[in-house]
Amino acid sequence: MANPTPFPFGSHASVFFNFLLLCFLIHQSHSTTPPLDSSSSSSSSLPGRYFKSLPSSLYQNESSEYTEITVPLQFDNVNSSCSLLLLQQDFGNTFGSSPVTAPYSPPSECPAPWSHVVLELRASCQGEQYDRIAGVWLDGIEILRTSTAEPTDSGIFWKVRKDVTRYSSLLSRSNLTLSVMLENIVNDVFTGVYHVNISLLYYGRRLKFISGEPSGRSRSQTEVQESLRLGIASRKPADLIVPIASDGEDGFWFRIENELDVHSKWIQIPLNTYRAVLEIYVSFHGNDEFWYSNPPDDYIKLNNLSTGRGNGAFREVFATIDGFLVGSQIPFPVIFTGGINPLFWEPVVAIGAFNLPSYDIDLTPFLGLLLDGKDHSFGLGVTNGISFWLVNANLHIWLDPKLSTVQAKTVLYMVPPLTVKRKTKFHELDGSFKVKAKRKIQFSGWVNSTAGNFTTHVFHKFKLQNSIKFMRNGTYKEVEQTIESKTLVRINFLWRISTSLFLTRKN
Ligand SMILES: *[C@@H]1O[C@H](CO)[C@@H](O)[C@H](O)[C@H]1NC(C)=O
Ligand SMILES: *[C@@H]1O[C@H](CO)[C@@H](O)[C@H](O)[C@H]1NC(C)=O
Ligand SMILES: *[C@@H]1O[C@H](CO)[C@@H](O)[C@H](O)[C@H]1NC(C)=O
Ligand SMILES: *[C@@H]1O[C@H](CO)[C@@H](O)[C@H](O)[C@H]1NC(C)=O
Ligand SMILES: *[C@@H]1O[C@H](CO)[C@@H](O)[C@H](O)[C@H]1NC(C)=O
Ligand SMILES: *[C@@H]1O[C@H](CO)[C@@H](O)[C@H](O)[C@H]1NC(C)=O
Ligand SMILES: *[C@@H]1O[C@H](CO)[C@@H](O)[C@H](O)[C@H]1NC(C)=O
Ligand SMILES: *[C@@H]1O[C@H](CO)[C@@H](O)[C@H](O)[C@H]1NC(C)=O
Repeated sequence: MANPTPFPFGSHASVFFNFLLLCFLIHQSHSTTPPLDSSSSSSSSLPGRYFKSLPSSLYQNESSEYTEITVPLQFDNVNSSCSLLLLQQDFGNTFGSSPVTAPYSPPSECPAPWSHVVLELRASCQGEQYDRIAGVWLDGIEILRTSTAEPTDSGIFWKVRKDVTRYSSLLSRSNLTLSVMLENIVNDVFTGVYHVNISLLYYGRRLKFISGEPSGRSRSQTEVQESLRLGIASRKPADLIVPIASDGEDGFWFRIENELDVHSKWIQIPLNTYRAVLEIYVSFHGNDEFWYSNPPDDYIKLNNLSTGRGNGAFREVFATIDGFLVGSQIPFPVIFTGGINPLFWEPVVAIGAFNLPSYDIDLTPFLGLLLDGKDHSFGLGVTNGISFWLVNANLHIWLDPKLSTVQAKTVLYMVPPLTVKRKTKFHELDGSFKVKAKRKIQFSGWVNSTAGNFTTHVFHKFKLQNSIKFMRNGTYKEVEQTIESKTLVRINFLWRISTSLFLTRKN
């Protein structure tokens, strides 16, 4: 009877590789401090900003479009049912200001449910300007992390389209506040003002999601079970999203300055939660903008360099519950448009620059710990991190419409220590630095909801190999990094129907 049947579509595996090989000249003696660097939220890159010194006859005099190569959205060629312009804003001298806000309510002419919702950000800029980081939040829940392209004298423009269907439960609520943070500095030298429009496009209802809790309408047990199974196994949007974020005064992100700087928020989750996924948004700046190319501190110290870009080349973003590690990810090394050599990123920007990836951590195995009606502390930090990282998270929660309390238990918690091996060899400014890091973690827990008794097993491992070489008296730098990461979420399900058959036979 207790023999778990594998859930037919509950198995999900993802393998994610990424390879990075960079060669670049180090500008001056590692101590480049481009103007405004310290005040800039965003990068101001290692080699400093290259001014475009092309003769004017070679300039295109027309504004040109910049793009990020992405997988097209499956409904790109379908007209949306309606669109809503949420914000039209010029980001000029916005450094140190609070986020720009605008009210949000879904359009009355096409109410939820929607098959898809797309966030569209259009931007233009002309003049001289740094790349800037930006975040878009709805009631403190992040829906886009993006960065700007560095403009030209003839002007540039671009567009970001992001599928935000997973935030449907949030998008269907009224009277929310949209907040956008984009700190920019405008003066005699840096003249570029970022003009930004943010819209939402709502697509028809053909692909209706079975909603979690349509109160008033009675549904059969089987219907509810089907719906919950969808919630467990598919991309059905969560019923509730809770921000793990700061108060929003300087944007809702936590600014993480070092490894011990773990930011947390106390949250009580509903007792009828049957699935929980933490979505982490992250970007790295300042001395860690190029963390994958940072040498160890010894090298910096013994060469009397003044740069703060050290602490070796391994970083990991992690999440904790009540201080215990519950998941981690090595972020994809997104390179902003001022990074390494800005001329590399026009008009095609680096992968992720316009739409930074977020990272999902399945917390369902921990519901046994969380469903006690008490507040729990959800923390976010960066292993080996140095100043600074902008990190916040959304906790996606699926609710059982038939129960006020769901039973759950955490049965396996395996977090062996992270292994990091480093090999450092250098003479004066030349040398070679190698890092190998490995982690393997595993969690299981069961949740006994209306859908049945499910056991969720989460298995996550990664392997990072990083090699940095400094040559020609430290003026030439070669970086090679490979990350292999695998996350497996397996859901075992004991069919209730087989339980009752068993009982019938027994009678
Ligand atoms: C752009 O304009 C400048 C000055 O007006 C002119 O000299 C140049 O030839 C133009 N370039 C192109 C590509 O049309
Ligand atoms: C989408 O809208 C445009 C302009 O409103 C129209 O020309 C086009 O035929 C529409 N496409 C579809 C597939 O409905
Ligand atoms: C924003 O929208 C306004 C009004 O539709 C339009 O005039 C402007 O060009 C748009 N800006 C961008 C950057 O797309
Ligand atoms: C939103 O605010 C308006 C005006 O304050 C109010 O009339 C309306 O009832 C509110 N809607 C919801 C769903 O709270
Ligand atoms: C660094 O500074 C110390 C003390 O001023 C000096 O003894 C040493 O030779 C310097 N090292 C290099 C590589 O310049
Ligand atoms: C939990 O599991 C037991 C035994 O498997 C079952 O009898 C009970 O109905 C389940 N509870 C819920 C809320 O589904
Ligand atoms: C749910 O299933 C697990 C594993 O099969 C079992 O240990 C646990 O007792 C079950 N829970 C309930 C309430 O039946
Ligand atoms: C290497 O660079 C350092 C610091 O810039 C300089 O003092 C030294 O003379 C250089 N050595 C050679 C061999 O060029």
